[in-house]
Amino acid sequence: MKLIKKIVLPLLICLFYSCQEKKAETKKEESVMEKAEKQFSLLVVEAEKANRIPRTINKDGEMHWAKERFDWTEGFFPGSCWYLFEATGNKKWQMAAEKFQAQFESHKHLTTNHDLGFVFNCSYGNGFRLTKNEAFKEVMITASNSLLTRFNPNVGCIKSWDVTGGWQKERGWMFPVIVDNMMNLELLFEASKLTGDSKYKEAAITHANTTIKNHFRENNSSFHVVDYNPETGEVRHKQTAQGFSHDSSWARGQAWGLYGYTVCYRYTKDKKYLEQAQKIANYILNFKGTPEDGIPYWDYNAEHIPNEPRDVSAATITASALIELDKYSKENYKGAIDKILNTLATKEYTAALGENHNFLLKHSVGSIPHNNEIDVPLNYADYYYFEALLRYKNEYKTESNEE
Ligand code: GLY
Repeated sequence: MKLIKKIVLPLLICLFYSCQEKKAETKKEESVMEKAEKQFSLLVVEAEKANRIPRTINKDGEMHWAKERFDWTEGFFPGSCWYLFEATGNKKWQMAAEKFQAQFESHKHLTTNHDLGFVFNCSYGNGFRLTKNEAFKEVMITASNSLLTRFNPNVGCIKSWDVTGGWQKERGWMFPVIVDNMMNLELLFEASKLTGDSKYKEAAITHANTTIKNHFRENNSSFHVVDYNPETGEVRHKQTAQGFSHDSSWARGQAWGLYGYTVCYRYTKDKKYLEQAQKIANYILNFKGTPEDGIPYWDYNAEHIPNEPRDVSAATITASALIELDKYSKENYKGAIDKILNTLATKEYTAALGENHNFLLKHSVGSIPHNNEIDVPLNYADYYYFEALLRYKNEYKTESNEE
């Protein structure tokens, strides 16, 4: 009897409280996704009424819809619906995803931009992963063929922007490649898997290798734009378009690089990509000027820090990439991931139900040099947040600590 009182009873009490604690933790995580689903349900109602894809909020507070002609962000909204379908199993999200991605299916034939990877992998790519619908596969392959037309073997890269019009024409570039372009490679790796034809993967690998060679500085931060001579492959300029200066580190660009090389490692298992991703993570996570809450300023070297806007989109892309990198790396990124996700779940960053035009997260930046989308919600900040929450659940929550 004494033994029961002295040892067994205290043990049982400890076990009870530790189970309660674990339940509370899980509940907190689940409630983030539940809250997100409620908010996104309101956004879908708004989108269905207009039959348009939400991108951000305009300066006048009205919804800014993705351009119908083509918009590099158009895949993220249906992509978020696919993630909600994955998280909840509710068919209404599958129907929403299919309906909104169908709006831009014909863009799979466009050869005038490099964003086809973003657009089609986040929408149709997730759709194919979850449903194995053969029609989605065809869309991914057609988009990959269109993207491949922009690969130049002299340069060893996919051209990011055409320079025949718009603000890009004013810059004197011939063959600009932006670090963001690393995000288009996942579609190409998938296309090789789907077709058995290695040409897509080979182009992706060449692009990734050329980018390692020319985009990164000694401290492992990256330039935004590298401009090449398309005949000789020679580097003409190393500059910025969306960052503070040519020599600064634009926050979202660092996040795109981190994510892109993590994906390259996933498909190739080539250690140099793992090392590159780790080096970028090291730069991002050890940068002295980043605020304690883990959400970076829009550029690590912006002029008026701490009086500069944060960029939540950079934080969500980083968190999602780190969760994947954490699986492959001997480094431990869990603390940094928890910090970012816990901060994003606070009222400072998560909108109250029905506010923020029904986007989930506040405080992102599109492009300050273009005076465009400053301190606003962005559909891609929400997309990578959904992805990070799902990845987090899959990686760190075991059955024993599920409710
Ligand atoms: N080009 C994509 C971005 O603004 O990050």
